[in-house]
Formats: sequence, C-alpha cells, structure tokens
Amino acid sequence: MSTQVVEPGGPLVGRVQVPGDKSISHRVLMLAGLADGTSTIRGLSDGDDVACTRRIMEALGITVTEDGPCTLRVEGRGLEPANGTLDVGNSGTGIRLLAGLLAGLPFRSVLDGDASIRHRPMDRILEPLALMGAKVSGRDGSSLAPLTIDGGGLRGIEYRLPVASAQVKGCVLFAGLSADGPTTIVEDRPSRTHTEELMEAAGIPLVGETDGPLKRVTVKPGCPAPFDHEVAGDPSQAAFWAVAASIVPGSEVVVDNVYSGPARSGFIDVLARMGADLVHDPATGDLTVRHAGLTGTVVTPDEVPGLVDEVPILAVAAACAEGETEFEGVGELRIKESDRLATVESELGRMGADVRVDGDTLVVRGGSLRGTRVDSHHDHRIAMSCAVAGLVADGPTTIRGWEAVATSYPGFETHLDVLQGGG
Ligand code: S3P
Repeated sequence: MSTQVVEPGGPLVGRVQVPGDKSISHRVLMLAGLADGTSTIRGLSDGDDVACTRRIMEALGITVTEDGPCTLRVEGRGLEPANGTLDVGNSGTGIRLLAGLLAGLPFRSVLDGDASIRHRPMDRILEPLALMGAKVSGRDGSSLAPLTIDGGGLRGIEYRLPVASAQVKGCVLFAGLSADGPTTIVEDRPSRTHTEELMEAAGIPLVGETDGPLKRVTVKPGCPAPFDHEVAGDPSQAAFWAVAASIVPGSEVVVDNVYSGPARSGFIDVLARMGADLVHDPATGDLTVRHAGLTGTVVTPDEVPGLVDEVPILAVAAACAEGETEFEGVGELRIKESDRLATVESELGRMGADVRVDGDTLVVRGGSLRGTRVDSHHDHRIAMSCAVAGLVADGPTTIRGWEAVATSYPGFETHLDVLQGGG
C-alpha cells in the first residue's frame, strides 16, 4: 500500500490536460471491438480501469496497436470466446457495460473484478438482461460478481430504469445491438448520454424522444461501423482542479479540452452557484478557474445524475465554503467504489470538516481543515479529494492507499507538482 503526503502551499497556477474521459474510453473500446474494420482512438484514458477493458477486448480477439501516447488502432473482426475469466479490475462501468455486450454474443464468458466489484450490486443489470432472455448468473446463485454469461438469443424489450444510471442504460443498449428487435430505455431522470452519442457516431441508428418528463431512446440491432474518435478530457478529473483552484488563494488554473455534454457538467453549475470564478469555453473545452470565496448551496436530487462522481470533491468545496451545503438524494453514493457517504464523512471528518449523513442527504458545514492521516478506502476519488483538501489544511496530510488513484488519474501528483510550481 502506498502513501502520499500533500503539503499546503502557495497558489496553483498553470495549465493541465486531464486524462481522456473514462466513461467514453470504455465505450469506444467496446464499440471499436464490435466493429468490422479498423478504428482509431486518440486521447484514451490512461487509467487502470480502461486498461482492464482494453485487455478484455484483446482477450475477446481484437488487435490493438499503439500509435502514440494514448492513441490506439483497434482492429475488430468479430469477437470470439476468451480463454479464462475476464478481469474488470475496479471498474463498475467495465463490468456492467461488458455484461450487456457479452450477453448478446453466442458463447460463455465470465466477468470478475476486485474486492470492491465483488460487493457492488449487479441485480440492476441482471434484471433487464433476464427480461431480454439473457442467461447471466452471479456468484453462488447471488447477483454478485463473478458473473457467468451464456450469451445469445436476446429479445428486444422496453425498460424503464428504476435508478438513474448510465451504466444500466449502456448495458441494455449494448445488449440491444444483438437482440431480435428494437430495445427501448425509458428514463425519468436523464443520465449521461455517452452510449447514445458514440453508437450514433459508429453508424448505429438510435431514436430519441421526450415524452413529458420521460426520455426514451430506442436502438435497433446492428453492428457498429469502424470510426475515428478523439476522447475529450474527463470532467470528473477536471473537477479536482476546479475545486483546488477555487479554494487555494491566488490560484488560476486552466484545464484543457474538457468534455461537455448532457449530465456531465453539473459540478460547474454547482460551483458557479457557490460563487466560484470559472468559465467553460464551449469552443475549446478549456475550463478556467480562479480563486474565489465560496458559499453553501443546496444540490437537489434532480441534479445528482449530472454530478454523481463529483460529490466527494464538491464536499471538499463545501467544507471550505461559508455556511452549509446539502447534497440531497445521494443514496447511490453508498454503492460506488467505496461507500462514499461513509468515506466522505469519515475522511473529511478526520480532517476536521463538519460532515454528517442524514438519510440520503449529505450535509457539510464550512470551516477550517487540519492536516492528518486519512485513508483512500481503495477509492480513487476519495484519495484525490483528500489531496485537494490537504492543500488548505493547517499542516501535511498523509493519504494511505494512494495507489487507488491509478484507477483513473495516474498523472495526478505530477499535475499537482506542476501547478504548485506555478505551471
Ligand atoms: C458511469 C455512470 C455512473 C458513474 C460512473 C460512470 C458511466 O454510474 O458513477 O463512474 O460511465 O456510465 P451509474 O450509472 O451507476 O450512476
């Protein structure tokens, strides 16, 4: 287990380019693998989660060639059974989307992951896949990983998502590519739309409709065409620098080429409401953030799907703001890489933040932070949130379990050094 020490210091100044969007990176690898021909992907996430998906696609028979840093040529020519278990590592997106993809292919596959993955709920995908006729079973008759999938023979369904989840939506849409007819997803609370955008870019026709408060999207069975895609920077990683620059006096940070699209920029709206000085340029994607005093706000349940991964770092912003911030309807955080309601409460609490969980609401009252020892709980976003909090603590912050950061942002410390050194 590795530790990282973060020292409070002067302003963060300069420009950084965060890794390619993780959600998009998983999906482009899967679509390129299903396509018949050669696709080119630039700017792929360099995190371990996406590396696991790449290895899985290779184990299923595709050829991947590196043409430069984070640039890949992917040759798809029909997927074939893998030898052995497919390891998604720590990735919930990996296991849920791949389960949908593999449910449509006429052979047996086994998907497994680390200890965190083995505890995360898979019933949310097993239910719609069973309605499609898929044969997917969990460990010892449960719905937990490892998942054994005997693929093929799927029927199209209409499915209303019981939780706002882009992973479940993506799983069903990937399965829908191999069904016997159209598959429709109905959402009450719109989630990120990467699966839809990327399937369309790969020539899969989708039909979207708005039906009062409901959003429907229908996919017909089909095979993606090869494509070229440049993955934009991950807004979830940019959020760490946006909060860091907001809370450290004198800071000015530009994050290059940050993705913008439905249900991904919620943290920008929340920070702006808290008084942050930030601009996201729609033409370049550049996110420019300068230090500003923050005040508390209320984040409503409708906003949560658009910032679900950013709650830990927004909690750091709230801990440095004047007054109280409430994050309502954040129960889904209990089933992320860690129980993030518990880990935000315990780790920011150790640093002296006034954090409490009240049912599905997270309440944070602003104050001062102290440097101390904290633990990542094997969760990359908890580790990086503590690191940002450490920038304004009264002494060094030691983060145990720092290796979790490699899941999504292996270059985080280097970027922190660059910004602390003034760019
Ligand atoms: C993701 C969707 C979200 C998010 C996860 C990535 C995706 O999960 O938390 O990090 O790529 O579809 P849910 O769909 O479970 O909300």
